[in-house]
Amino acid sequence: MSFENPSFLEKIMEEILEYQILSRSPLYKAYLRKLPLKGSEKVLEFGSGGGACSRHLVKILSKGGKLTCIDTSEYYISKARQRLQKFDNIEFLNGDVRKPGIPDSSFDMVLIHFAFHHVSGHEKQDIMNSLASKLKKSGTVFIREPIDEKGAELPVEEIRSLMKKAGLEEVDFGMKKIVLAGTVYEGVYKVKGRE
Ligand SMILES: C[S@@+](CC[C@H](N)C(=O)[O-])C[C@H]1O[C@@H](n2cnc3c(N)ncnc32)[C@H](O)[C@@H]1O
Repeated sequence: MSFENPSFLEKIMEEILEYQILSRSPLYKAYLRKLPLKGSEKVLEFGSGGGACSRHLVKILSKGGKLTCIDTSEYYISKARQRLQKFDNIEFLNGDVRKPGIPDSSFDMVLIHFAFHHVSGHEKQDIMNSLASKLKKSGTVFIREPIDEKGAELPVEEIRSLMKKAGLEEVDFGMKKIVLAGTVYEGVYKVKGRE
């Protein structure tokens, strides 16, 4: 799978399967609507892709909130920008969350949705540390990732270890079997003891 330079087939799959079908299904909508958001929060969406989650979040954040989408793929972030251009409470950043530009301690929530298992092994801890640093001390990370062999390289113990080393504490979690994705881990993390 190439996010930087998707093939014709990958573009069609994203457009039809992800954006038109999955994104509108309860698999996405029910999860996002359950997030404890009042609508006025600042949310950072890591690996937002073409906007399959962002399209719902931007509407939830309509009471003075703001959504910041970040993705390393220029193709997918441009796609999301084009799809969601009518909203004024959303911004799109193409690049690495570790680069200067996103202020520390400025977000109420970080959402990581089906994205972290695509991060290269040697960068995972560094990127997780950076995401943690973007949270306010009352902030929360919501992470939803496929964890079994089908979903590849991100076992739940690795997620927990990355979070712990980044200063984040698991406060809730669930496991679900989802068609196409296998077993999916849904974790909730809070910032631990930051002054
Ligand atoms: C499968 S898509 C998920 C898109 C969306 N979150 C969803 O759930 O439909 C994974 C996205 O993560 C992005 N991604 C992978 N590594 C990344 C990184 N280090 N920083 C930001 N985005 C990354 C990819 O470019 C891709 O758009």
